[in-house]
Amino acid sequence: MPYAHITGWGMSVPEPVLTNDDLAKIVDTNDQWIRERTGIRERRIARDTDFPSTLGTAAALKALEVANLKPTDVDLIICATSTPEHIFPATACLIQDQLGATKAGAFDLLAACSGFIYGLNMAAQSIRSGAIKNAIVIGTETLSRFVDWEDRNTCILFGDGAGAFVLQASDQPGGVLAAVMHSDGSGGNLLTLPAGGSRHPATEATIREGQHYIYMDGKEVFRFATKVMASSTEEVLKLAGLTKEDISVIIPHQANLRIIDAAARGLKLPIEKFIINVDRYGNTSTASIPIAAVEGIEKGRVKKGDKVVFVGFGAGLTWGALVAEWTGPLPSPRKVNMGRYRLWGRVRSLLHRFERFLEGIIWGRKA
Ligand SMILES: CC(C)(COP(=O)(O)OP(=O)(O)OC[C@H]1O[C@@H](n2cnc3c(N)ncnc32)[C@H](O)[C@@H]1OP(=O)(O)O)[C@@H](O)C(=O)NCCC(=O)NCCS
Repeated sequence: MPYAHITGWGMSVPEPVLTNDDLAKIVDTNDQWIRERTGIRERRIARDTDFPSTLGTAAALKALEVANLKPTDVDLIICATSTPEHIFPATACLIQDQLGATKAGAFDLLAACSGFIYGLNMAAQSIRSGAIKNAIVIGTETLSRFVDWEDRNTCILFGDGAGAFVLQASDQPGGVLAAVMHSDGSGGNLLTLPAGGSRHPATEATIREGQHYIYMDGKEVFRFATKVMASSTEEVLKLAGLTKEDISVIIPHQANLRIIDAAARGLKLPIEKFIINVDRYGNTSTASIPIAAVEGIEKGRVKKGDKVVFVGFGAGLTWGALVAEWTGPLPSPRKVNMGRYRLWGRVRSLLHRFERFLEGIIWGRKA
């Protein structure tokens, strides 16, 4: 049975920064309150030209470059997102097109902020089953488009961005060791985007009532989060036959510094074991874990052979954890020139559209 190794990583965040002081000009809040209650100092906000697919594609290209893989080597693209570009087509398919990943199956995974862990687990299972060799898992969000900028309970928390991992099959032991996934739909009402789906399709009334914005019961979500972060970490370690002492670093979902603090206390681990960057990006939902991972790797906090735990929670309710032995790029005789593929995806997409246009004319004439 092959092992599923994490061999590439990349992130992409929009340039515009929104600080707490900027927010204080929009809603009744202040920098001190936000920092003390959440640990957040600033977040990134998508420009009009940034979308989950463009941010996700940029992150995926960087991850492929690290893994030294061509887009055409990819068998599967899983895009975890809480803010898809459309109900359908899947954002994963838009990314597949922009990458020019012509061999890949692609689908979106909706498990809110736990989505990246769910996606890693699904990709690892597909690799270990022998069905596929190379997968990309992406977490990508433009939450700023679903935030009520008049609601100080939520607008202070969220930010935009994307992160991606490449997973590859190898006979060498290591990679994803174990994962746990949980859900409790009885808490679905605690964190929700009420309208715009088939239960409450968009109407003038739903828009007037602001039902297309994120609704959150902050206190209940906080209580839930502090319970499950420590318990799912312990559960996944047990499943992998590891102890807390074996773990070099924990990369948690970046929702609130106090939630990460509570997890550290629950696990009786020093906070230094956790990679934290919620201060600079806020809560980027599915993107928060890969963005924190990429920054941790770049700062030398995650090294080959390290045992790393990823743990998160989110709307659904969902929660989960995954433990992996860190690998890095697999040895390869060739060097992929990714610059070429940045353009190739767009050219290939245009050619395909043109081909479909010509076929339309031909078949249209025959009909
Ligand atoms: C949202 C959250 C930061 C609020 O923190 P809290 O300590 O629970 O704060 P409360 O809601 O009890 O509010 C305390 C006071 O601050 C006020 N307040 C709320 N938001 C404020 C803001 N942005 N600025 C200033 N004051 C604010 C409240 O009105 C309240 O005032 P009161 O005591 O006069 O009534 C916290 O509950 C949280 O992080 N929850 C989890 C959210 C989360 O992680 N969501 C994503 C899941 S993936």
